[in-house]
Amino acid sequence: MQAILDQQPLKELDEWDDFVAARYKQGKSEEEFRNYKQDANPTVTEFYRQNHLYQTVDFVLGKKREYGELSRGKKSIWEMAEYLNTLVDDSDPDTDLTQIQHLMQTSEAIRKDGHPRWFVLTGFVHDLGKVLCLYGEPQWAVVGDTFPVGCAYSDQIVFPEFFADNPDSKIPEYQTKYGIYQPNCGLDNVHLSWGHDEYIYRVTRDYLPEESQYMLRYHSFYSAHKHGAYTHLMNAKDERMFEWVRKFNPYDLYSKGLERPNFEELKPYYEDLVSEFFPDQIAW
Ligand SMILES: [Fe+2]
Ligand SMILES: [Fe+2]
Repeated sequence: MQAILDQQPLKELDEWDDFVAARYKQGKSEEEFRNYKQDANPTVTEFYRQNHLYQTVDFVLGKKREYGELSRGKKSIWEMAEYLNTLVDDSDPDTDLTQIQHLMQTSEAIRKDGHPRWFVLTGFVHDLGKVLCLYGEPQWAVVGDTFPVGCAYSDQIVFPEFFADNPDSKIPEYQTKYGIYQPNCGLDNVHLSWGHDEYIYRVTRDYLPEESQYMLRYHSFYSAHKHGAYTHLMNAKDERMFEWVRKFNPYDLYSKGLERPNFEELKPYYEDLVSEFFPDQIAW
């Protein structure tokens, strides 16, 4: 049991989201950007240590085998949203949002800006992959900035020094610029560290447009969409589609301070929206 507890250093999963939001607070200078450690408390630092230590090529391939075929049964989007909401933590109900509130806050901000319905829906489902936590996955395998495994780590990733203890850093083949990949092979051929992005992408990809798939799959790939790293692995289509990933990111990062959405009032709109794109039940 102790070993399991040790792998949940964050008091709540959202602590990572809050760290990223603080790191990318609007109006920061380049100097402040580089100084990300000031936004990281000891639990966030420990979380990144574990994430960078354990996310290896073998680990990612194993998780893709385990979850990639979506063999955990059929459920509706709503059942999963309610399931995710049971993510129990000792957060303060007056100040902290539930998981559904974060999803609705993101999607409502997108809706207010007049974006298409599929974009609003993308906001509403973007973090449902966090149910991985309820499947028993440790925090470092659910959240955190994602990054390619099997090639050199970009120094644009936070806490790059923690990669020194990753077993893959001892494998020379994995530590060249391209590693196991070909130049500009396209991100579809690249394995990113495992987490909630890849999982929700896989669950929803048959039902949502490609722009949405990119937003879901790469929304935590900060070194790429915020700092321009890894363009040597992207193809022309990735570069084009990343415009959408960048369009999505502010809604995820900056909608938290906005008014708390009224779930009951908004529910009919979202029921309509969900059933426009998804069948009653989908494979998870
Ligand atoms: Fe997310
Ligand atoms: Fe989010």
